[in-house]
Amino acid sequence: MGETLEAAVRSALRTVRDPATGRDVVEAGMVEGLTVRDGMVQFAIQVPRERARDSEPLRAAAEKAAASVRGVLSATVVLTAHRAEAPKAAPPPPGGKAQAGQGQMLLPEVGAIVAIASGKGGVGKSTTAVNLAVALASQGLKVGLLDADIYGPSLPQMLGTRERPRTEGQKIIPLQRWGLKAMSIGFLVEEETPMIWRGPMVMGALEQLMGQVEWGALDIMIVDMPPGTGDAQLTMSQRVPLAGAVIVSTPQDVALIDARRGVRMFERVGVPVLGIIENMSFYCCPNCGHRADLFGHGGGKREAERLGVEFLGELPLKLAIRELADAGTPIVAARPETEEAQAYQTIANRLREKLAERAGAKAGPRIVIE
Ligand SMILES: Nc1ncnc2c1ncn2[C@@H]1O[C@H](COP(=O)(O)OP(=O)(O)O)[C@@H](O)[C@H]1O
Ligand SMILES: [Mg+2]
Repeated sequence: MGETLEAAVRSALRTVRDPATGRDVVEAGMVEGLTVRDGMVQFAIQVPRERARDSEPLRAAAEKAAASVRGVLSATVVLTAHRAEAPKAAPPPPGGKAQAGQGQMLLPEVGAIVAIASGKGGVGKSTTAVNLAVALASQGLKVGLLDADIYGPSLPQMLGTRERPRTEGQKIIPLQRWGLKAMSIGFLVEEETPMIWRGPMVMGALEQLMGQVEWGALDIMIVDMPPGTGDAQLTMSQRVPLAGAVIVSTPQDVALIDARRGVRMFERVGVPVLGIIENMSFYCCPNCGHRADLFGHGGGKREAERLGVEFLGELPLKLAIRELADAGTPIVAARPETEEAQAYQTIANRLREKLAERAGAKAGPRIVIE
């Protein structure tokens, strides 16, 4: 079924001509990453970078052509240009417009957007993001949780749901779980779909997860970032007014080197680093409660001092954290009375304080010149 619909969409796209060359967009090889699922069509139109600003009519025409195909319920088309240039040093104006040519900043109704990041994978970024989000929601905030890991989404597993989000018109409704709104590419594509995305497509997919999802008004959005310092980091820093980034690290030196890289990357694109969290900081034996510093506890704190960023706290390496995360019931929701859950709550509190301080500083004292 999907394939015939895909073919129909392709032939509809053959009626859309690129005004610059007079060729149709299919023949010109401008259609990228076309996917059709349950009547939802998504693809990107690839344009040369210098034409990105003027290509909105082409994008709209392609979207219209795809949407008018029988059997298509919704069509979403994004423009992509080849790899962005090096990030600009200047920070995006908070809450304002993006840099020229990139259109309006996404997510204008979200009070603060916080990226949970790390230099490398496997340090517990997703686990931390999910538990912090649940903690913030339990404190009465309206919280969104966005899985920005397009290659390896973890929210379906960590939230324990593979429910398909509903759509309303062109908008995708986020899932409600553990008191928060959540969205992940993992809710939209089949698990077996090989995630062979190229840079511009990652950007397009991420933009959709922000712009096409009906997030509504939120106090805070926690973004579970993919590891490293690539396209997703760049997209996020350019397309949304990030309140800041939190770097998750394990205590080992290697992980810390990556943490340093993560800190620098955000600083370079003008995103404030709110602090470092040391995860798997120490080991507590599930039987006797004995504590052991498996990975040389304390590295995160020293490193934070060295980099001049706040140390937000440490989280123990606990079997229960992993088991509950894998079971789709984050420990903060499932076992709120435990010390581990409390550790997440404490960090969530500190994060709120920091965000409030920053918001206050921004509103700041006004200088009046008479
Ligand atoms: N504090 C912790 N204690 C025990 N296991 C943890 C802890 N933090 C993360 N894990 C486990 O480590 C693995 C990797 O964590 P994950 O959050 O997926 O890392 P990342 O998002 O950085 O790749 C998962 O199996 C997770 O359950
Ligand atoms: Mg992850």
